Amino acid sequence: MSSEPMLQNQAATPPQGANAQWGGRFAQAPAEIMQRINASIGFDRKLWRQDINGSRAHAAMLAHVGIISAVDQSAIDAGLTAIATEIEAGTFPFDVALEDIHMNIEARLAERIGDAGRRLHTARSRNDQVATDFRLWVRDAIDGLTAQITDTMTAFATRAAEHAATVMPGFTHLQTAQPVTFGHHLLAYVEMFARDRTRLADCRARLNQCPLGSAALAGTSFPIDRTMTAQALGFDGATANSLDSVSDRDFALEFLAASAICAMHLSRFAEEIIIWCSAPYGFVRLSDAFTTGSSIMPQKRNPDAAELARAKTGRVTGALVALLTVMKGLPLAYAKDMQEDKEPVFEAAEALSLSLAATAGMVRDLIPNSARMREVAGSGFSTATDLADWLVRVLGLPFRTAHHVTGRLVACAEHRGVDLAGLSLKEMQDVEPGITADIFGVLTVDASVASRTSLGGTAPARVAEAARRWLEVLS
Ligand code: ARG
Repeated sequence: MSSEPMLQNQAATPPQGANAQWGGRFAQAPAEIMQRINASIGFDRKLWRQDINGSRAHAAMLAHVGIISAVDQSAIDAGLTAIATEIEAGTFPFDVALEDIHMNIEARLAERIGDAGRRLHTARSRNDQVATDFRLWVRDAIDGLTAQITDTMTAFATRAAEHAATVMPGFTHLQTAQPVTFGHHLLAYVEMFARDRTRLADCRARLNQCPLGSAALAGTSFPIDRTMTAQALGFDGATANSLDSVSDRDFALEFLAASAICAMHLSRFAEEIIIWCSAPYGFVRLSDAFTTGSSIMPQKRNPDAAELARAKTGRVTGALVALLTVMKGLPLAYAKDMQEDKEPVFEAAEALSLSLAATAGMVRDLIPNSARMREVAGSGFSTATDLADWLVRVLGLPFRTAHHVTGRLVACAEHRGVDLAGLSLKEMQDVEPGITADIFGVLTVDASVASRTSLGGTAPARVAEAARRWLEVLS
């Protein structure tokens, strides 16, 4: 009968299975598949603390400006405390028909305290509510990850101080280039992580504006005090434009971009660890705590933690691309598309946190094979540049000419199957008559690294100084 929906529409209670928060408008419960695509409670329950804190601040403000009574406010406060206890204890009755964390908590509040609970949603909407909750969550995640990055930097800088003079081959194109020190290599990552921290700090500073009170999109007719709620939640101020407030997810994108760059750094280090602990390199040994065995090959020690840190980068970068794609082309203001913002952010934060912890652990434990690194550091004519520099410094040859002379000496040594120090003075003088025996002094790996004292160079003295400086900053 065509009149039936009309009748139900006017019924006092919403239809069975419908969302009680707006049952008044609806004659039919949602299709099961509608509920499945629509509900976010499966993942946004992670925001429960932020949601409760946001509601507390909102209720306090409503009472302060006289929109609700002080009696209602304290009932709301007590009700929210009880709900927090239920959620913590795992006894909270999450209901998928209530879609998300916001409506689950609000409905439960009304169930517990009646009309006072039903007054909480005055002068707000889920749109400004979720924008606020999510900013608070990302802010907490930034603080946690920043502490982890600092811990990772400390692990790297500590090992760098220990190995300021441990020589190893430096590579470009993964070809032997010039000797460097292991400490110098580790400190390169400390610099990367330091930039990661500042990127997160920048993101945090821009994020720290409160959207609460922007309501659905247009603001509200109630005489609210947005500065008060902003302050109560630890924000620096209130966002300026209500349309932007409910539709902006830049803070999540910036967080993901900064996280993706940090994860990329971790993946580069992970790749190096994987190469370094392979048998042909043998530069480092990972501890048992950070390796796995093989179910068939008894000799294997696999760098699984490093491989997974290398791989987790994919999730973090994927999260950034996913959210950029969700946001692209969305008209103002809020659209349900934006509910898809949370899972990528949660997943990225978790992946990055795990990768940082695993990397710090590996670095604290790893045992460098100094003898092996020294051996390889001196191979492949790695001190050829030192030889060329000597020709410039002592004989006054133009660098380009010195480069050419050195190239001929390298070819000669290669032909003879010796390294540069293995050539006789006579052989060298056949190529460049001005060469004296002094040249042999610059051909060793130790002389090479010790000479690189320029600012930011690999000289052990410089590296020790930089490691000390970092450890001071980090402590
Ligand atoms: N669960 C929603 C989200 O995460 C909350 C906001 C819903 N707003 C709305 N107008 N349906 O985006």
